[in-house]
Formats: sequence, structure tokens, C-alpha cells
Amino acid sequence: MEKRTVQTQPIEGQKPGTSGLRKKTKVFMGPHYLENFVQSIWNGIGGAAGKTFVLGGDGRYFNEQAAQVILRMAAASGARKIIVGQNALLSTPAASHLIRKRKTDGGIIMSASHNPGGIDEDFGVKFNIANGGPAPEDVTNRMFEATETLTSYEILEAQDVDLSAIGSHELGGMEIEVVDPVQDYAELMETLFEFDKIRALFAGGFTMKFDAMHAVTGPYAKEILERHLQAAPGTVLNGNPEPDFGGGHPDPNPIWAKPLVDLVMGPDAPDFAAASDGDGDRNMILGRGVYVTPSDSLAVLAANAHLAPGYAAGLAGVARSMPTSRAVDLVAQAKGIECFETPTGWKFFGNLLDAGRVTLCGEESAGTGSDHVREKDGLWAVLLWLNILAETGLSAKDLLMQHWETYGRNYYSRHDYEAVDALNAEAMMNALRSKLSSLPGQTFDAGVVQSADEFAYDDPIDLSRSEGQGIRIVFDGGSRIVFRLSGTGTVGATLRVYLEAYENHSDKLQVSVETALSDIISSAQQIAGIREATGRTKPDVTT
Ligand code: G1P
Ligand code: ZN
Repeated sequence: MEKRTVQTQPIEGQKPGTSGLRKKTKVFMGPHYLENFVQSIWNGIGGAAGKTFVLGGDGRYFNEQAAQVILRMAAASGARKIIVGQNALLSTPAASHLIRKRKTDGGIIMSASHNPGGIDEDFGVKFNIANGGPAPEDVTNRMFEATETLTSYEILEAQDVDLSAIGSHELGGMEIEVVDPVQDYAELMETLFEFDKIRALFAGGFTMKFDAMHAVTGPYAKEILERHLQAAPGTVLNGNPEPDFGGGHPDPNPIWAKPLVDLVMGPDAPDFAAASDGDGDRNMILGRGVYVTPSDSLAVLAANAHLAPGYAAGLAGVARSMPTSRAVDLVAQAKGIECFETPTGWKFFGNLLDAGRVTLCGEESAGTGSDHVREKDGLWAVLLWLNILAETGLSAKDLLMQHWETYGRNYYSRHDYEAVDALNAEAMMNALRSKLSSLPGQTFDAGVVQSADEFAYDDPIDLSRSEGQGIRIVFDGGSRIVFRLSGTGTVGATLRVYLEAYENHSDKLQVSVETALSDIISSAQQIAGIREATGRTKPDVTT
């Protein structure tokens, strides 16, 4: 086994985005591409020597090959030990948990989350720090700087390590421990929720479908839902992870998980249904006859989490990303707890969770989580819902209706314009920026603009400042439009327009979302000229 120093050159564009570095799989498979980035991870964190890391991914195409490269590079750089999921699989929340539980120096997660997988689709690499959460911006900036000056990387010449069986191996002096990817995570869930109550719910005939979307959560869901909680066999759909996710988008929303939505809206609806994404950190919640928006789900969970043993002491505080609807703010207000508004991306919750300022946090993009790990966690959200339903005896629909009766309803939708010309999208955002100061007082379909600004976040813990985090326009009465460009896309630019309207008149709590948001949608066009900038007459994806 020989250690090699390979000469290389900086590769442009290796800047981690909202959630690690995501590129087309073929780009990652190109000469030196993965190696350059992995070496830059080591360089950005002060080297790998003597350190222990967790490694795993969502099983998409190139997952195991990339894992083998990372193992050889870790060994060549003197890492002490790598804990890797069997077959190089780990869901993102399970990886976060292992990083924390085993007190490691961090971990590498191979995933492009909900983006499709395959040789012509997407791949990604993300580094998480010792708290289990995504590396914060100062760390990712150092990695990016390292990519720009890199001249060589270290790698071992060796055969592939057998990752198919649980056990220990040695590679160039480094220990490799192959672990069951599910077990530690399942044990953690058992400490948070009352499994007996949920088991009794299923035993009483409660029915559920969980769509794992051919992605990594399948084995986790089967183990926890069907074995531990004894939900009926067949509760988990599409439960075998596949490298191309069965050819679909493993994104748990009404577009990509439409069959599940159709099921709960049809005559054979189960009592409850849910789905998760490629790497298991996102979730979608459905009940018979009802779709729960992620923003509403966060609010309902915040209002009821104390019913689960892991949260019986109440919540320290809550946090949501800025574009997420303000439904959870109303719960926080009623409970008298702190509510934080952070930029998009889970990494901004890490400090608040570490400092014990928040217990629950979430994003409109189907992400909900708590201080049990430092990532969002799809299956965790599903289990918390189940625990609350078991405890209250309510249906998902009734729980949601009661929530709206109590707090009012934040009608919400997100419009995505995908793969638009990057320069046009930038120009639109610049034009918006330049007229922000003139908007307040102007009248559009949604009413009079109360405030208009570009969101910047001052982290209350480390006092860092993150600027340029989205443009927000608030109307009298509380309706709101947010504009921002995605930081996870791999082609052109993706414009996201987030639309929200608040309603608390009891006779207006159940109108259609389209009707409730129509004025705010036309105002977004009036203010930003979306059609002209994108060349599209309608969004590519509406969630
Ligand atoms: C998107 C979501 C964001 C989420 C991220 C990673 O980022 O909007 O909430 O944290 O994926 O899952 P974006 O593409 O908008 O930058
Ligand atoms: Zn994900």
C-alpha cells in the first residue's frame, strides 16, 4: 500500500452552497474533482491527521465509489479512524447522530438531498462539524479558499475496502469501523417518543403509508415503523434504496410525491401518511383528506411537542428560516418563548441549538428538526406527529383545523422558476434591491407595502453577520412576499418566490390556497417583473 502525492490544479466553482458542494455526477466523476474537494475539506479544517470522522451517503449513483476514494484519502492524510455506514449508507440525520454520539471530529455526507440521482443527475459532498451540524460559513469559506490554491492531494493506492459487512478493517494504519446505519438512530428515537402509545395506536387499527421514495430512509422506516412500532407490513412504500431513486425526484412534496397525496385524498386513504427525501432529512405530512404544509407542521409540532416524552419539559425556543411562514411565531408568542428568524439553510440553526436557545426548528422546504441532532430529520418529524396523534386521539386533519382556529392560518406557497438564465435572475434581484426604499407606502393588489428590505442575519451566539439572505416585502395586514435565489441548484439560477397571507376569520380558514394568495401572487409579478426576467409565464414547481 503506497501513499501518493498527486499533483493537481485548482478547479473552478468548488464553492459549497446552502448545503455542501453539489454538482452533476459526471462533474464529480471527472479527473481530480472529488479528490480536490476532499483535500480542500482537510485543508479547511486544519488537516485530517489523528482525527475520527463519520462517513456515509444516501446511496445515490457514485455513492460507494466516492466513499472508497474518501477512505483512501483520509488514510493517506493520517486520519485515526472512520466510522462508515454499511454499504456506505447513512441518512443525514443518522450521520449527524453518529458524529455526536461517538464524539468524532465531524463527518462527510455524500448526498445531493432531494435532487435526482444517476450518472446524468446530481451528486454532492458535505462536511459536518463535531456538533453534528453542517459546517458554518467560516469553515466552508476556508474550504473554498483551499480549493482555489490547491496544488496536490494525498491518496493511498489500495484495493477497495469491503463495506458490505459490519466490522472493523485497517487501511494504511487507519481504522475503519463499518456500522449498522439504522441501529443507533432507532435507539435515539426510542428515547424521544412513547413507542408503547404509538404501538397501541397501530394495534387499534390506525393505518399509515410512508413513502421512502426509493431513497435512504427505507431501511430506517421499515425498522422503526414496521418492526418496533408494529405498523402493518407494507406501511413503508418504495423502501429499497436505489442509485437512481427509481428514476424519480426523491423530494417529498405534492409534486414529486403526488401518488401519496392522491391516495390520502381518495376513497382508500389511510389515517396518516408521510414521505421523506433522498437523504432522509426532509418530510411531508399528510392525513386523510389533508396536506400539511411544512410551515404549518412546524407550528403544530411546536404547539404540541410537550406531549412526547423527549419534549415534556417544554421548548426553550423555536427558530425558522426567514422564508418559512410565520405560523410558528404565533405559537411561540402564545407560549412566551423565543422565536428566531434565520437565513435559509440548516447550518444557521446550529449555534442556537448548541446554546440551548431553541429546541425545535424548521424550514418551509420540508425540513423540521430538534436539538436531538444538528440536521433536519424526516422520520423524527413523522414520529413526533404519530406521538401527538396517539396522545390526543385526534385525526391529523382535526389537529390542523383546531390549530388554525386557535392561531389563525398562514396561507402559504412557494413558486420556483428553475434553470433560468443566471444573469437575468441576478439582474432582476438587483433591480428589486434598488427599489426597496421606494416601495413602502405604494399600493399593489395585496395592499399597501409596509416594509421592504434585504434580510441580513446577526447570529446572537457567535455575532457573525450574513448578508444578502433574501428580499422581503411585507404588506399592511401581514401578507408577505420573499424573493431569493437558490444556493443548491446545479444548472443556471433558480428563483424562489415565497408567498404568505394571514387569515384569522373563522369563516375564511378553509378557502383554497390559490384564492387566498391570488392578490399576493399578482403583486409579486407587479413588483418584480418575474415573467420578463425568467421568460416563463408560470412557475416550474409550485409547492
Ligand atoms: C434549499 C431549501 C433550503 C434547504 C436546502 C437544503 O436551499 O430552500 O431551505 O435548507 O435546500 O436542503 P436553496 O436551494 O433554496 O438554497
Ligand atoms: Zn435532504
